[in-house]
Amino acid sequence: MEKIIISGGNPLRGTVQISGSKNAALPIIAATLLTSEPCVIRGVPNLSDIQFMCDILRWLSVKVEHHKTEGVVEVRAGHPLGVAPYELVRKMRASVCLLGPLLARLHNCKVSLPGGCVIGDRPIDQHIKGLKRLGADVVVENGYVHARCNELIGNDVFMGGRFGSTVLGTANVLMAAVLATGTTWIEGAACEPEIEDLVNFLIKMGAKIKGIGGHMLEVEGVTELHGAEHTVIPDRIEAGTFMAAAAITGGDVEIHGARAEHLSAVRDKLEECGVTVERNNGTIRVRSNGDLKPVDVITMPYPGFPTDMQAQMSAMMTVTPGISVITEKVFPNRFMHISEMARLGADVSLEGASAIVKGVKRLSGAPVMASDLRASAGLVLAGLAADGETEVNRIYHVDRGYERIDQKLRLLGAKIERVAE
Ligand code: EPZ
Repeated sequence: MEKIIISGGNPLRGTVQISGSKNAALPIIAATLLTSEPCVIRGVPNLSDIQFMCDILRWLSVKVEHHKTEGVVEVRAGHPLGVAPYELVRKMRASVCLLGPLLARLHNCKVSLPGGCVIGDRPIDQHIKGLKRLGADVVVENGYVHARCNELIGNDVFMGGRFGSTVLGTANVLMAAVLATGTTWIEGAACEPEIEDLVNFLIKMGAKIKGIGGHMLEVEGVTELHGAEHTVIPDRIEAGTFMAAAAITGGDVEIHGARAEHLSAVRDKLEECGVTVERNNGTIRVRSNGDLKPVDVITMPYPGFPTDMQAQMSAMMTVTPGISVITEKVFPNRFMHISEMARLGADVSLEGASAIVKGVKRLSGAPVMASDLRASAGLVLAGLAADGETEVNRIYHVDRGYERIDQKLRLLGAKIERVAE
């Protein structure tokens, strides 16, 4: 195992290049199962979650070539098997999005339930409800979701749950509906940019989908799809994380390769904090003199403030004078980072799904433990702002979603190194 050691206190300066989106690439790679023809996906970040997805596809007897340095995944799903086992699925919850394409392609599949998750309860009732609306018989038995049908038949499907529209649930129903007989209307569809990217890829494969980017997707089923090439969108959460890193360190960072329109809510909050955010010819420049103002943040489905940026924002607020309130409306228990930030001297109390953050003057470095991907990003940011040395353990969590985060931060002037634990 590796850990990251940060000597905090250096303002970040310079430019950083954003990688392709993990959360767009994962369902798009799953969607390649919808055709026996070759598909080429470009702009794929070199992350452990992408490797897990490629491994699962290989286990399903699918030919996968992952050119890691070029960021290209080539897939040919000639005759995929229909069972994704627990040993592989438990490593990555996103593998639940194999359900829709496997069901559409094979009409009979079993995907293991992934099991517990530190960011809170993550049921898949909406996924199951949606597939049932398309005529599938879906049962949960022996730890597997077993879905089968004679054929999938288009229908209206509502994807909004208690905490808003489900992203991967929408992806699953969409991938099943593209090969269904007749028309499907996905109402309350998640409209995250990653779903839009999936829709774009499916259209390149020959799917007929209207309403792209909106809450109502109309899918006219086709009998087969063909191979396609696609470049995934840039990772908005990685970009947002570097925006917050610039802000928390009082730095000046130019972010290249991101799509600023995917980051409006993050930009808006940073500006409210007193950070200058400029968009110029495809770059985002974030400048801060370190004099931050407290804000209230409520996480929401897109285009609201992303839950995947909540830990990073919490880190910023820990060193912002005054009181900030951060409320989680997507994963109400996603606060594992808070007790670790307290080890750095943060003053935060939890009230239900809200964190009440009283900004302190300085954090002071200490060993901390990463519990999940975004919590670890939040801890890295806190470490960049803290006096002295912060040691972030279990850094494999951060490697699931950030390509070479330590290298990218080092190029911006951070004193950060990766060492064996
Ligand atoms: C996706 O997870 C992302 N993962 C998550 O990214 C992200 O945090 C989340 O969307 C929300 O934006 C990938 O894209 C691979 P949801 P997903 O279904 O689709 C509840 C990261 O760090 N719900 O939209 O699994 C659920 O419990 C991560 O990169 C149901 O109640 O999330 C949550 O409260 C982790 N029933 C809310 O909906 C269901 O059937 C939103 O979850 C499904 C979800």
